[in-house]
Amino acid sequence: MRKLLALALAAAMALSLAACGGSADSGDTTPADTGASDAADAAQDTGDAVPDAPAGGGTIGVCIYKFDDAFMTTYRNALQEILEGKGYSVTVQDGNNDQSKQNEQINTYITQGVDALIINPVMTSAADQIIATVKEAGIPTVLINREPTAEQMSAYDKLVYVGCDAAQSGTFQGELILDTPNKGDINGDGKVSYIMIQGDPENIDAQLRTEYSVKALTDAGVEVEELDSQRGDWDREKGQTICANDLAQYGDQIEVVFCNNDDMAIGALQSIQAAGRTVNEDIYLVGVDALDAALTEVANGNMTGTVLNDAVGQATAAVEEMEKLLGGATYASGSQSVYVDYVKVTPDNVADFQ
Ligand code: BGC
Repeated sequence: MRKLLALALAAAMALSLAACGGSADSGDTTPADTGASDAADAAQDTGDAVPDAPAGGGTIGVCIYKFDDAFMTTYRNALQEILEGKGYSVTVQDGNNDQSKQNEQINTYITQGVDALIINPVMTSAADQIIATVKEAGIPTVLINREPTAEQMSAYDKLVYVGCDAAQSGTFQGELILDTPNKGDINGDGKVSYIMIQGDPENIDAQLRTEYSVKALTDAGVEVEELDSQRGDWDREKGQTICANDLAQYGDQIEVVFCNNDDMAIGALQSIQAAGRTVNEDIYLVGVDALDAALTEVANGNMTGTVLNDAVGQATAAVEEMEKLLGGATYASGSQSVYVDYVKVTPDNVADFQ
C-alpha cells in the first residue's frame, strides 16, 4: 500500500501521457490535439472537456490475460483499488493465458450489461475479434498492456489503448549498460557479448525491448555479439533455466544478461549466483518492470538496473480514459493509444521507488 501510494505520487509527478500518432484527441468531445505535450494537456483537461462519467455508479468488467504474472498482479491490484476507491462495482477475471476462455468472459460481461470493460488481451492477434465483439455490444472499452495496431483499433471509436512505448524501455535497458564503467565490455575484447531472455514473442513489448536494448548499444558505436536469444515467456523459472544453460555453455563469455522483464531477471540472477558469478563485477543484468524483488536486488547491487513499468500510472490512466468513454468521448482513428513513460532505475534512484 505504501508503495502503491508512493508510486502513485511518482506517477502523478512523472506522468507524461503521450499519445501514439501524436494525438490524444478524445474525438467528439475534446478539441483536437497534436503532439505529445498537447496530449498530456488533453489528458489533464479532460475533466472539464467531457461530460461527467456516472460518478462511481457503474459496473466494470476487467479481464487479465493471466493472474499468474508478477507484473500484471501489481497492475490488476492497482486497477481494482482505484476503481473501487471511486465507487465502481468491479469484477476481475483470470484468462488463464487462454484466449477462448477470455472471449467467454467478455461475452459474459456483455450479457451481464457492464458499463465498461478493461481488457488485457491474452493474444494481441485476437484484437480484431475482441474489438468486433465489444463494438457490436456498444461497450466502451479500454485495452491495456498488449497493444494492437492503430488500424485494428480504428474499427471502434469507443475504444482506447493504455500502455507504454515498449521501444523506450528497451532503449533504457541499453543505456543502463552504456552507463557502466566499461560500457558492458567487461573482458575488454572490444565487443559486448550478451544473452537475451525474451518475453512472449507475440507481445510487442518483448519484440521492441529485444530490438531496442541492443540498438542503444549499436547506436552508441558499441560492437555487440549475441550468444543466445530465447523466449522465456515472462516467466521466472524459464528465465532461470535459460540463463543456467547459457552460463554452462558460454561461461565467462557472457558479459550482459538482458531480460525483457524483471521476473525472468530474478530467475536469471539465481542462476548467475549459482554459477559463482557476481553482478556488476563479472556480469551485468538488467530487467524491466521495477517489481519489488528487483528493486531490492538493484539496491543490493545484484542487478545492474531495471526500468519502471509504471503499473499504478497505467492503471490510473486506464481508469481516466474509461471515465472519458463513460462520459461520451469517442476516439479518432490514429489517436487511440495513450502512453505512460518508463523510468530508468539504478542504485542512485532506487530508493525513490521502494
Ligand atoms: C511486462 C511483463 C509482463 C507482460 C504481460 C509486460 O509489459 O513487462 O512483466 O509479463 O507485460 O503482458
